[in-house]
Amino acid sequence: MNVNSTVTNQVASLEVDGKKIHLPIIEGTEKERAMDISELRKETGVITLDSGFVNTGSCQSAITFIDGEKGILRYRGYNIEELAEKSTFVEVSYLLIYGKLPNKKELEAFSTGLTRHSLLHEDLSHFFAGFPSKAHPMAILSAMTTCLSTFYPESIESNCDDQVNLDIIRILSKLRTIAAFSYKKSIGQPLIYPENSLSYCANFLNMMFAVPSEPYEIDPEIVKIVNQLLILHADHEQNCSTSTVRTVQSSGASVYAAISAGIAALWGPLHGGANQAVLEMLEEIHQSGRGYKQFLEDVKNKKEGIRLMGFGHRVYKNFDPRAQILKKSCETVLSKLGVSDPLLDIAKGLEEEALKDTYFVDRKLYPNVDFYSGIIYKALGIPVDMFTVMFSLGRVPGWLAHWKEQRDSGVKKIFRPRQVYTGPNELQYQSIESR
Ligand code: ACO
Repeated sequence: MNVNSTVTNQVASLEVDGKKIHLPIIEGTEKERAMDISELRKETGVITLDSGFVNTGSCQSAITFIDGEKGILRYRGYNIEELAEKSTFVEVSYLLIYGKLPNKKELEAFSTGLTRHSLLHEDLSHFFAGFPSKAHPMAILSAMTTCLSTFYPESIESNCDDQVNLDIIRILSKLRTIAAFSYKKSIGQPLIYPENSLSYCANFLNMMFAVPSEPYEIDPEIVKIVNQLLILHADHEQNCSTSTVRTVQSSGASVYAAISAGIAALWGPLHGGANQAVLEMLEEIHQSGRGYKQFLEDVKNKKEGIRLMGFGHRVYKNFDPRAQILKKSCETVLSKLGVSDPLLDIAKGLEEEALKDTYFVDRKLYPNVDFYSGIIYKALGIPVDMFTVMFSLGRVPGWLAHWKEQRDSGVKKIFRPRQVYTGPNELQYQSIESR
């Protein structure tokens, strides 16, 4: 349990079948309140039903605070705007996982660890040859993360703090190598091994874009943008993939299994897969020639269930602060790289129209982080099916922070929601001849 939360003197009263019970109200450090219903079924025989967990708190956490109405996002108390401007992805990873900004010595030790653990075991590198060249890199990333655990059986057997810290470093560092290798594999280029003299993000860009036959120049401004993108993706409290990581952790499975499951959850188009879906949507509008205005009409008429991808968010109902930061970066990157792209014009048109249309305004649908991140990734030369991999690389420290917080809490309670059964009542088995 998070020691900073308090059980208030307030209670909520609930009457079921004439029996009145009182539910304690607990309060977080930002005055968010929750009814503790852990005794509800025992006391009344009923459970709560909350499809999609819209009103359900699954844990107490001191990692990330979001106020969806005010557009606030803070990691460990620090505003996302300040971190995106002043920090680096490595520093933010430390902050999320260990709960405080590192001092010089701590940051140096953490960075050195990431540098030293970037290589994959050569036997693991051979696994890439087994995937078809059209394999989706998210499938490769998830599979290879599970495979990593086969090389470190001690991480499954031992749960001591030193082992956990080593696993954290290995996962953060090696997933970056796996991501770049999966891209090289998909385009048939030789793998470029990590280069220890480079920073975390520069090393990743080098593994992605360098070739053995000519030097690759790393632009520090592009490195800064990649740092910013990964920082903005780094955590978002109990989203679908993070909840998945916590669920897997609760069963006692290894950290590699939990992170692999998180990657699989992030892949879906309603979650991290939305950045790929945004680009595919823009391409479809461009190629079909139907124009963005007609596309918006089709969205509003719910034609074939299409949605304006990159718009809307379960939590942010006024604006997504990450999207506001990326909108500015998007303009900087595109003008720096001199990119002129018809897809970008479509994106701008969609955004402008949607923001003044009552369908979107009434439903509080605004651009989310994925609306702009895909456009930036495309300008940087990152292929569309690698977009969600980029999101995963950013989200890894968040997943690790939640995995560690839950482990360190000492609470061993498996996640096991209940259900309301709606199937047939008891039936008699019939032999196959009589069916
Ligand atoms: N385009 C068109 N209509 C939308 C959109 C959209 N992008 N999003 C929601 N709506 C509509 C729904 O059709 C619904 O309309 P109705 O009241 O007429 O039935 C209403 O808005 C509420 O939608 P819900 O699905 O109930 O909203 P919820 O909060 O559950 O969904 C979600 C949030 C999944 C992000 C949704 O807005 C969506 O599908 N967006 C597009 C996908 C996307 O961009 N996902 C990335 C999210 S950010 C992230 O994961 C990092």
